[in-house]
Amino acid sequence: MIGSINGFSKLSKEEKINWIAKTYLNNQEAVVDLIKQYWNSDVELQKLHDEFIENTITNFYLPFGVAPNFLINDTWYTIPMVIEESSVIAAAAKAAKFWADRGGFKATILDTEKIGQVHFMYKGDKQKLEQFIQHTQAQFLEDTFAITQNMQKRGGGILAITLRDKTQEIPNYYQLHVTFDTKDSMGANFINSCLEQMASTLKREAMQYSAFSDQEQAIDVVMSILSNYVPNCVVRAEVSCPVEDLEASDIKDPVLFATKFVQAVRIAEIEPFRAVTHNKGVMNGVDAVVLATGNDFRAIEAGVHAYAARDGQYRSLSHASIENGIFKFWIDLPLAVGTVGGLTSLHPMVKIALQLLQKPGATQLMQIIAVAGLAQNFAAVKSLTTTGIQQGHMKMHLMNILNQFKATNDERVKVVAHFEKNIVSHSAVVELLETLRKE
Ligand code: MEV
Repeated sequence: MIGSINGFSKLSKEEKINWIAKTYLNNQEAVVDLIKQYWNSDVELQKLHDEFIENTITNFYLPFGVAPNFLINDTWYTIPMVIEESSVIAAAAKAAKFWADRGGFKATILDTEKIGQVHFMYKGDKQKLEQFIQHTQAQFLEDTFAITQNMQKRGGGILAITLRDKTQEIPNYYQLHVTFDTKDSMGANFINSCLEQMASTLKREAMQYSAFSDQEQAIDVVMSILSNYVPNCVVRAEVSCPVEDLEASDIKDPVLFATKFVQAVRIAEIEPFRAVTHNKGVMNGVDAVVLATGNDFRAIEAGVHAYAARDGQYRSLSHASIENGIFKFWIDLPLAVGTVGGLTSLHPMVKIALQLLQKPGATQLMQIIAVAGLAQNFAAVKSLTTTGIQQGHMKMHLMNILNQFKATNDERVKVVAHFEKNIVSHSAVVELLETLRKE
């Protein structure tokens, strides 16, 4: 069948590209050349990247930028961010400077507990199951010791193993709900290995548990997996200052600004359509740092949005208030991240990102990421409630439009100068370029 292939993963990189080119790209030599242009000339470095995943054919660049001047708990940071959206880093840097002049960001860890579950079916008496799980606690810990001993040396490990009855939702369905402290690692492999061991302990011990009937002995494990929902692995980031101190070159009336800002956040707290976009603004900052530091942004995204909907309605992750003349803006974020393991010691740019952040532990990284999210959210809501976002956004997007139309250096200088004083729009840029090109 044209378009399908057996044994693709066994082909060499060159053969894979040739097959793709032949099958889907009309054998376009230029496309093949372009794909190869993104290979790194350092063979070892390229090999490292090739081996991160299966079927690598080339690299995909994203900008790695930095946002300086973040004062967090009285320490200065320059935050590395990997992101494609033009305005994100500029906004982060602006928010960082704004708050550095007003005491900086405060960040606090509320808790660091991770979660995993063994999902299983048990047909029988619930009380007997409860007694069995109680009776097997020590065995679970003993059987997982080979996996947990290093983590225990670092002060982490399994925190608790509890039975959860889910039979109201699905007949016979129970969980071993296990909590962990994984210290500076994100802990996915550690948690999943522990859970798979616990699942086999559960099955084996049940078979030998004399109080169980034959049916009760036959516990059926469905799956064992960590949860990316970590409502007890939470960091708080906040900023505050007297309302009058909000005055700035672009905030002439601080009382009006603070009032509108709080209203905007309140809207995002009660209105899901706005909340999703509001939180997307938060994630512009969060994901960019998560990516730069080699963490799993899909896990973070999934967990954060579940947290935003924890009371049954999707709501703003951040909150704002004015009390006794003090403006306060804060966010609580569930962030299961690591600074050891995974990509952190493999990807050269991740290593540099972590060095730039002064080699943080996982809790420090949680604080930095939450601050980046709060800063990004502040910048977005500030723009939205004052000038609107398009002014800043389109200014940054101007470069993308100029690149799209392959503007020369001379054209760039003229266009940028023109749009210092005029509103940027796609059509206005195209029109100006056309006029310049006719001259
Ligand atoms: C754009 O990437 C993010 C914003 O839409 C966030 C928001 O509306 O708060 C500006």
